[in-house]
Amino acid sequence: MKTGLTTLILPAGPAAADTAARTLHAGGLVAFPTETVYGLGADAANAAAIAHLYAAKGRPAFNPLIAHVADLEAARRIGRFDARAVLLAEAFWPGPLTLVVPKTGDCPVAELATAGLDTVAIRIPAHPVAQQILRAFGGAVVAPSANISGHVSPTLAAHVEHDLSGRIDLIVDGGPVEVGVESTIVGCFEAPMLLRPGGLARERIEAVLGEPLTRPPADVESDSSQPLAPGMLASHYAPRAQVRLNARNVAPGEALLAFGPERLPGCEMAASVMNLSVSGDLDEAAANLFGYLRSLDAKSPRGIAVMAIPEDGLGEAINDRLRRAAVAR
Ligand code: TXA
Ligand code: MG
Repeated sequence: MKTGLTTLILPAGPAAADTAARTLHAGGLVAFPTETVYGLGADAANAAAIAHLYAAKGRPAFNPLIAHVADLEAARRIGRFDARAVLLAEAFWPGPLTLVVPKTGDCPVAELATAGLDTVAIRIPAHPVAQQILRAFGGAVVAPSANISGHVSPTLAAHVEHDLSGRIDLIVDGGPVEVGVESTIVGCFEAPMLLRPGGLARERIEAVLGEPLTRPPADVESDSSQPLAPGMLASHYAPRAQVRLNARNVAPGEALLAFGPERLPGCEMAASVMNLSVSGDLDEAAANLFGYLRSLDAKSPRGIAVMAIPEDGLGEAINDRLRRAAVAR
């Protein structure tokens, strides 16, 4: 579905930030870089713009969005921060962390963006281009990852263009992103809950809290109509090729997504090989993950074999995304 829009692509800078702010005020859709992945922004207070955003992404409207703001003062106009939420905000914002907190009484974020929940997800991104756009705009911007729903998230402006050209108004190109997986989402509930592993390692959050994060009950993840821990549709981030995890060999015609220095049996027969991090660095692997999945998938291999990746640090987020990519559709 093309909406017939002409999508303008501008290099990041003050002029692009002004155009982005004007486009958002007019109810338009603007893709911009954050340190995690490219986001597709709309004015958080404009329900019509948010409806267009869901349509452009082909996204189920029960999946609520993250409100992005420039600073803690703006965050407090949207959500209520208890002592623990303040602790996390002060330790990790701006950065790759999203906090789910109760809405304020006069929360300006449209109901459509929060899917009727009485909580709201908030993030202060660290990327200078995102900061520049948020400050030029002056309000909250809801922004899911700037991809067609179900595709892998974009880490380059070219990925956004591939998925959304003709469906959105503007793409601000700020080059490759740094982190490469989406933000970690923490629910500031009675017991703080890890709703989505992401670009900030669980260990770092637990060290600040002085207590472990709980996980949502297992049945929530498989029930796609249940909005407590969304982003959690079982099949998500999916390439077209079938993804095979914890591979110990490569079958003829398969592509290989490698990790670390080991060479798997059969890798000389692979359709294509990309290594997330030859040295086994999980931060480097996270930054490469979505781009490499897209590149391998573009070669239309018989399947994509993925080597085992350790579960510590950003490995938890990488394995979460890979498990979703591997769900058969
Ligand atoms: O890094 C990121 O978080 C990127 C960049 C653009 O900021 N954004 C992103 O947005 O990944 P999205 O829409 O792809 O994922 C947002 C997640 C979804 O899983 C959504 O269900 C969850 O946040 N979410 C939003 N509001 C929520 C709420 N009130 N309670 C629980 N989960 C919520
Ligand atoms: Mg997404």
